[in-house]
Amino acid sequence: MTRTCAIVGTGAIADVHARSIAELGDRARLVGVVDLLPERAVGFGARWGVPAHPDLAALLDAHRPDLVHLCTPPGSHLPLALEVLRAGAIPVVEKPPVLSLAEFDELRRAEVETGLPVVTVFQHRFGSGAVRLRELVARGALGRPLLAAAHTLWFRDDDYFAVPWRGKWAVEGGGPTMGHGIHQFDLMLSVLGPWSSVTAVAARQARPTDTEDVSAAIVRFESGAVATVVNSVVSPRQTSQLRFDFELATVELEHLYGYSDADWSLTPAPGAADLAEVWAGGPPDTPSGHTAQFTALVDALDGGGRPPVDSADTRLTVELIAAIYASAFTGAVVRRGEIGAGHPFHADMTGGREPWPRWER
Ligand SMILES: NC(=O)c1ccc[n+]([C@@H]2O[C@H](COP(=O)([O-])OP(=O)(O)OC[C@H]3O[C@@H](n4cnc5c(N)ncnc54)[C@H](O)[C@@H]3O)[C@@H](O)[C@H]2O)c1
Repeated sequence: MTRTCAIVGTGAIADVHARSIAELGDRARLVGVVDLLPERAVGFGARWGVPAHPDLAALLDAHRPDLVHLCTPPGSHLPLALEVLRAGAIPVVEKPPVLSLAEFDELRRAEVETGLPVVTVFQHRFGSGAVRLRELVARGALGRPLLAAAHTLWFRDDDYFAVPWRGKWAVEGGGPTMGHGIHQFDLMLSVLGPWSSVTAVAARQARPTDTEDVSAAIVRFESGAVATVVNSVVSPRQTSQLRFDFELATVELEHLYGYSDADWSLTPAPGAADLAEVWAGGPPDTPSGHTAQFTALVDALDGGGRPPVDSADTRLTVELIAAIYASAFTGAVVRRGEIGAGHPFHADMTGGREPWPRWER
């Protein structure tokens, strides 16, 4: 069966989506695109051999697509995803999916209303290294998780923030916690499961933004594991690091924007069984990336299952972000479940404050 796909927002990440859809062969086909800038949509459509439409309603009407990939800035995701769901299609939403937990809960209500799932793009969950690690954890081969670290240490210069939607709470929803480190700690949550509490700090050290440019959190998990989560856009030696210390082995990943099996390592605990063979088994080397996620998505649709990454998965990640900001801006320890409707950090990642004076542009 061929799934028909449309793309909304034909900027930087849209080409990655179009290429990944093409890589699925006859399992998926791009049928049309739209962008607020008509000339950009026309150029993109010409490159990929599909028509550009004046707006989303016209695109939905013309193609009745199965999947609509939302590749627009974060502040536009909620209204676009609601329009897609109500037209009977599945939104495939780029990260970060929304600006707040309140927005996310509105999306979940629309899922119930329409009976359709919302999918979030977290492509790092889908490389074979992550798939193998989750399998080993699920069958207890590594023992209990004790300690972990998800450190996203990136460098973005001032020019990067010249794009009008960057660095602003109202359209980006946050700084590196919301927009950059999200991939690493989402992957960590996919391995360690539900978190239980957070203590965090956030700071604006150097960049021309209204949001933070660094944050650091200590996260406790229901399993008892403890993790540090660090997110930065001011780090000249860039790296994305994940480390898990289980009872029986340390498992590490070091990469930048995507990984393959060579970027992972496993070190058995002294006296523990040699897990090298177990680690070398499992799925064939598949790099993390949009193609890996879209393959898993189409597999799930073909099998009649819930497509990954579903809203229950994504909510854990969005709630962790809200809790990091709530802890950083109030000084409190924040427990999972605490930020419900009516809580200041449910409606807004700043809790309705201005953490730092606005940057004059
Ligand atoms: N998964 C990843 O690794 C990854 C990497 C980069 C960006 N992203 C995410 O992808 C999204 C887009 O980022 P980008 O760098 O491609 O941005 P971009 O600014 O390059 O492109 C966004 C495009 O969306 C268009 N647009 C804006 N609002 C629209 C609307 N309401 N309807 C139709 N078109 C609209 C803009 O005109 C622009 O062409 C963001 O959420 C970003 O965080 C994800």
